[in-house]
Amino acid sequence: RLHTIGRGSVVKCLQKVDTFLHRNIGTNVVAVQEKNGFKSLYAVQAERQEQAERSVLISCHSMTNEKRFLEYLANYGDIQKYFFYGIYAVVEFANKESIASLFEGTAIPGIGMETMMPFKSRLLSMRNLDSVDLRNQPKKRLAQQSIPINELIQRLSKEESIDQQITSLTEAHQLTEESCRLRFLVCSLLKDIVAPFFPECTIKPFGSSVNGFGKLGCDLDMFLDLDGISGKNATMPKSGLFLEYQMKAAKSERIVTQNILSGIGTCMDLFGPGCVGLHKILDARCPLVRFTHQPSGFQCDLTANNRVAMKSTELLYLYGELDPRVRHLVFTVRCWAQAQGITKSIPGAWISNFSLTVMVLFFLQRRNPPIIPTLEHLRDLAGPEDKSVIEDNDCTFVSDFSKIQLESNTETLEQLLCEFFEFYASFSFQTLSINIRKGREQNKPVGDPLHIQNPFETTLNVSKNVNTTQLGRFVALCQESSWLIQQNKTAPSRGGTEGKATITLWGVSNLLLPSQIEEVKRKQNSSKKQKFEPTNQWIKDMLKSMKATNNQQNQS
Ligand code: CTP
Ligand code: MG
Repeated sequence: RLHTIGRGSVVKCLQKVDTFLHRNIGTNVVAVQEKNGFKSLYAVQAERQEQAERSVLISCHSMTNEKRFLEYLANYGDIQKYFFYGIYAVVEFANKESIASLFEGTAIPGIGMETMMPFKSRLLSMRNLDSVDLRNQPKKRLAQQSIPINELIQRLSKEESIDQQITSLTEAHQLTEESCRLRFLVCSLLKDIVAPFFPECTIKPFGSSVNGFGKLGCDLDMFLDLDGISGKNATMPKSGLFLEYQMKAAKSERIVTQNILSGIGTCMDLFGPGCVGLHKILDARCPLVRFTHQPSGFQCDLTANNRVAMKSTELLYLYGELDPRVRHLVFTVRCWAQAQGITKSIPGAWISNFSLTVMVLFFLQRRNPPIIPTLEHLRDLAGPEDKSVIEDNDCTFVSDFSKIQLESNTETLEQLLCEFFEFYASFSFQTLSINIRKGREQNKPVGDPLHIQNPFETTLNVSKNVNTTQLGRFVALCQESSWLIQQNKTAPSRGGTEGKATITLWGVSNLLLPSQIEEVKRKQNSSKKQKFEPTNQWIKDMLKSMKATNNQQNQS
């Protein structure tokens, strides 16, 4: 049929349908963009949300008989996909109706002296199903955490080139298909708690869970989206029915957000199965409810009315899709930063993963030719359907990947990693600001030691929290790593070790070891009276070379 009516007309027709669906039904549509093999983040999210709604999370002990378990559940409908992790299983049915029939057969347990809260959720537990049968145990229980750093270092040392090390590091760290499904399922389970109050709401993951830069075990940032509630954005009729004349009001949107999060937070605390350690952090610039979802092990941050963050997630996702080197470099730099204690899992005066990602993006924009375009360029390519202004911030950028023409840059991952360290080892942080909107350094406003312009809220600095000490450590570690990687670029030859399995650390593995320079400094500080001499020749050489570079920089 494509041949008879013409491919062009079909594409035009589909584009019209696409625009119509986008305008009229917003983002709750599975249909949307899948152009040139790229899926938009909206399309991915809609697909994953729909899968999650057909899924349940079941606690089952580690000796569960897999065959019996599946046979039992098959009584309620066709199983599309399932996997085991820890003591849990995620089961996705082919149809949503299966969940309803599953509920019909479930009982609320009584435990000893305690009385249970009679709240039904899709978090279930399977008991006394069958006796243990080792042959039928689940074959593979998937890990939700990335491999320990020592194991990773060993693994990377066995690779043959730095490019392979970087690819291997990404594979070891990135979110798996299952982890991604589990993240959407947790959002969907939480939505069930909120839905009695806001039936048309959605809870969407954002940040590293979906932007393509998520590491196994990263936190789960969630956004309670109330925009889709019908009537919210409709024009007010002169007469007729309004929703409720006694609707509660508040003085500002911020207070409404705080009230909603506070109420929902209380419900999650009281009724939410598996939601523990809940804190309401409502005075933050972006109010949130923080808790641990025990069955998944995710540290969760639930926000509302946080549409700009959703946009920056979409932007990061787009950059990651444009060129595979983007993700590889971001993963490697994030892993290096974590190993060196530049980033930490708790908030503080250190550089965050988000800031670090923006720094990598900026570096890639500054290559010659650039590997990724500037945000201004992406805005210029945007069509009318992409227009987005959120609280006076221009968040418009192109969503159709096929409109983006990339320049031909053939730099290898090894070159890029080395250059990244060099770039920031000598970046003039005192005077310049990092700006991915323009893709060029800008003069820095006075104040913060590190200035990275927020891509959409342009008056904000995403690294406002970073102090001089932490920035200094980052620069020193970039200098050290730049030097270190130059010295250890080639894999050692493996032959002739007479059967001994000795592993020599080299390339990226070396970058993940504790900093030798910091070690020297620590020892010097702890024995100030004794004159400390570094024993390793390479540390001596490096200190000498760094001294020379500093002298040169001071002179220029
Ligand atoms: N964000 C932002 N401005 C900031 C901080 C965060 O716009 N100053 C947005 C970004 O889209 C970011 C998301 O909020 O991706 C979540 O923030 P955070 O959890 O701090 O970063 P992640 O990218 O999720 O990284 P991590 O894996 O460390 O959680
Ligand atoms: Mg996060």
